[in-house]
Amino acid sequence: MTTYYVTTPIYYINGLPHIGHVFTTVLSDAISRYHRLLGDDVYFLTGTDEHGQKAEKAAREEGITPQELADRIVPNFREIWKRLNVSNDDFIRTTESRHRTGVEEIFRRSHANGDIYLGSYEGWYCTFDENFLTEGQLVSGNCPDCRRPVDRITEPSYFFRLSRYQEPLLKFYREHPEFIAPPSRYNEVISFVEGGLRDLSVSRLKLKWGIPVPIDPSHVIYVWFDALSNYVTALGFPSKTELYGRYWPANLHVIGKDIVRFHCIYWPAFLLSAGLPLPKQVLVHGWWLKEEEKISKSRGNTVDPNSLIQTFGVDGLRYFLIREAPLEGDSNYSFSTILKRVNSDLANDLGNLVSRTLTMVQRYSNGLLPAADAGDPSFKALLESICSRLPELIAEFNFTRLLSDVWNAITAINRYIVEEQPWVLAKDPGNQNRLNAVLYNSCEGLRIIAGLLAPVIPQSANAIWKQIGVAGTASEARIDDLAWGKLPAGARIGTIEAIFPRIEEKDQLPASPVTDKDVTVAEVISHASIDDFQKLGLRVAEIKTAEKIKGSKKLLKLTVDLGTEIRRLVAGIAEVYAPEDLVGRQVIVVSNLKPTKIMGVESNGMVLAASVDGKPTLAGITERVPNGTIVK
Ligand code: MSP
Repeated sequence: MTTYYVTTPIYYINGLPHIGHVFTTVLSDAISRYHRLLGDDVYFLTGTDEHGQKAEKAAREEGITPQELADRIVPNFREIWKRLNVSNDDFIRTTESRHRTGVEEIFRRSHANGDIYLGSYEGWYCTFDENFLTEGQLVSGNCPDCRRPVDRITEPSYFFRLSRYQEPLLKFYREHPEFIAPPSRYNEVISFVEGGLRDLSVSRLKLKWGIPVPIDPSHVIYVWFDALSNYVTALGFPSKTELYGRYWPANLHVIGKDIVRFHCIYWPAFLLSAGLPLPKQVLVHGWWLKEEEKISKSRGNTVDPNSLIQTFGVDGLRYFLIREAPLEGDSNYSFSTILKRVNSDLANDLGNLVSRTLTMVQRYSNGLLPAADAGDPSFKALLESICSRLPELIAEFNFTRLLSDVWNAITAINRYIVEEQPWVLAKDPGNQNRLNAVLYNSCEGLRIIAGLLAPVIPQSANAIWKQIGVAGTASEARIDDLAWGKLPAGARIGTIEAIFPRIEEKDQLPASPVTDKDVTVAEVISHASIDDFQKLGLRVAEIKTAEKIKGSKKLLKLTVDLGTEIRRLVAGIAEVYAPEDLVGRQVIVVSNLKPTKIMGVESNGMVLAASVDGKPTLAGITERVPNGTIVK
């Protein structure tokens, strides 16, 4: 049997799981499930990345130890994967001893190979936050978090001879053009490596939360060296376990575009150095954006998957994520897009077809599936062609094509029923054969469709099989089970129940009066102190002039009166507000934001607005006050 080992990135524990993490994991889960459907022996791994400065810092801010923080956050990951029917075979935590042993061994092997040497690390360090920073992270030369001045530090560090691997890596990429998908990312990596590789600092002296360097325990191993190793330590490396022998090298690492360099350059270099085989493929996906910004904890714009599940159901969310997946570029997340997808594709097209078909079997055949004696319907060939192309579509990660083909089949069955008019056929016993054929063919088509969709919407696909009266579950089916005609006639259909209820827009709001038991307190990982808030200079300002910025649909150039001065700033509100309607209006401005240039215009502040699906509504005050009044 062909083995197929799939991994997700292991997630940081300085925040709760959000929609971006859910996407990567659900995508990896769908890939795993499609490979199981194709008959592969699949092993699917996910886990958490618990060491390093991010965890140490988040724990310090809460006054707890990093281990305590990890122990509190990890169950949230485990639970959401369970809730989403994620079929992972293992969950690795980098604080487990099985992981530590493997990381130490890779480090030792690399050292024995002459690839680790003691050098000197030079960089920026914020003493207050105990944070290493790169030049690019500094804000006006200060720490981006606490805004305090940073120090240039030099400290001893172990380095990995990455430079030695430039040529071996290029050779590997050329021999394995399939290593990085999609091809655009492959080309990016090659040109980066061709630009030259510098040795990499792989230990920290100041940091305490990590795995000690085996040859010098006064240092801890760099978090990425530690984290990447999870893909082999979870299989039992360095022991020659059955799992390791069976599944390494991995077939696929699924990752977001933010961590390409680590997976496509550092990881293969570490493995080459340790004398281990390289993974076969890395699938790089784009980001989910909200109002054009990456959804992430640090930007504070995360979307809670639990509330989406509550509104759309597990399969509604899974379907939306795979259907609109940012595989080449980025995708915009919005409540209204999920609503549309779930209502039109799942509730209307698929859900209605299921209830319509089964109601006919109930009504015209007493709930027993008749045998079909008449000819084949047109959608039989369509479904057979999807099944035969499935290996290729999955190898290309072409879910858009796969799902749109399946939806064509759903439309074809709906059309077939309308054309055949079973309600008319049922009136004349002479049409019995044809009526039986309509009932059988529609149910058989639905059975195969549910089988093809099970990797994306497992729970609903199983429910469809159960209602049709098929033995076994759709999520355990193999591709051969989806051959046309395997549905046995004579079976009794199950209880007909709505599978995808229609979601109303108001479902995102509480439907009934709020009582004490509805009051919830969401977990806040990092609070803003009153000092943090007071750093923001929020003031009331009156708009004096407003004009469009040439070449931009969204931006307006404004001058505002702040009481003591007239400011120029740029606001992204042109799609909603006409310049002439703004003059004289009082708005709230962040007056001490660092000046920046937007489309060549200097902006000295930011106008506050609420944002609904990317459309701004200006924040204001209900009564007029003097310009420049502080908002607090
Ligand atoms: N701990 C590292 C990974 C180590 S792997 C050896 C890490 N963790 S993370 O929690 O920050 O995020 C991991 C992954 O979550 C990203 O690579 C990406 O796959 C996913 N996403 C996080 N935010 C995302 C979006 N807004 N959109 C899509 N995926 C995103 O990096």
